[in-house]
Amino acid sequence: MKRVIVTGASDGLGFEISKQLLAKGIEVIGISRQKPELKVEHIATDLTKEAEIEAAVEKIKKDFPKFDALINCAGVLNIQPIEELKLDEIEATFKVNVFAPMKLVSGLIKQIKANGSDIVNVGSSVGFKAYKNQGAYGASKWALRGFSENARLELSGTKCRVIGFNPGGFKSKLFEKATGKKAELSSYMEPSYLAELLIKILELPKDMEVSDIIISRK
Ligand SMILES: NC(=O)c1ccc[n+]([C@@H]2O[C@H](COP(=O)([O-])OP(=O)(O)OC[C@H]3O[C@@H](n4cnc5c(N)ncnc54)[C@H](OP(=O)(O)O)[C@@H]3O)[C@@H](O)[C@H]2O)c1
Repeated sequence: MKRVIVTGASDGLGFEISKQLLAKGIEVIGISRQKPELKVEHIATDLTKEAEIEAAVEKIKKDFPKFDALINCAGVLNIQPIEELKLDEIEATFKVNVFAPMKLVSGLIKQIKANGSDIVNVGSSVGFKAYKNQGAYGASKWALRGFSENARLELSGTKCRVIGFNPGGFKSKLFEKATGKKAELSSYMEPSYLAELLIKILELPKDMEVSDIIISRK
């Protein structure tokens, strides 16, 4: 791999993935609102805004058309009791977790096919089961899986792999950002190990696709 696009490169798992890719000498194009504290090529983008996603796609097409993988890692959590689900908050969750990966893949599909690039969609174990008060978040991760399935079908017969990477709870500020409260995460997984695993999956021979992987907490 020579160049990888990572959304959510400024924090959490996306930051770890970017850090480890850079350490291997791989160029990282990082997409997030805040500038990552890493030597990535940053494309400042608010993934809730269609025009900004389109501008990012145009920049990639113009300046970085050759890339080995697009890792859709940016995500937001939403915790709400089922009685209190609000449409604008459901929409905000879907915008980052589902619509943005769909728009990025769609906008870059010509380059993805020409390069034989891999797509990684970072879902969650909640995309395979349910957690209380996570109706909107869970639905977004199930939807992302649906999109992965479709992309896999549309890219069959190409070199492109579509990898659904679905971790359980790991240490990051995702919960704190969603709730405004510090969460007790001592039993959660280390994002550095998850990043290492994801990169190993990408490094597998191109005729091996890890289509969906769930990494659970023990
Ligand atoms: N942490 C967990 O326990 C856990 C478990 C399972 C799955 N996941 C999934 O793993 C992925 C990474 O989560 P994390 O825990 O590493 O989260 P995190 O530490 O909160 O990082 C989230 C990243 O997404 C970016 N992002 C959020 N909203 C954005 C927006 N509107 N525009 C552009 N970028 C945006 C953030 O960048 P900016 O703020 O700079 O824009 C940040 O880089 C997510 O898809 C999450 O759903 C997390």
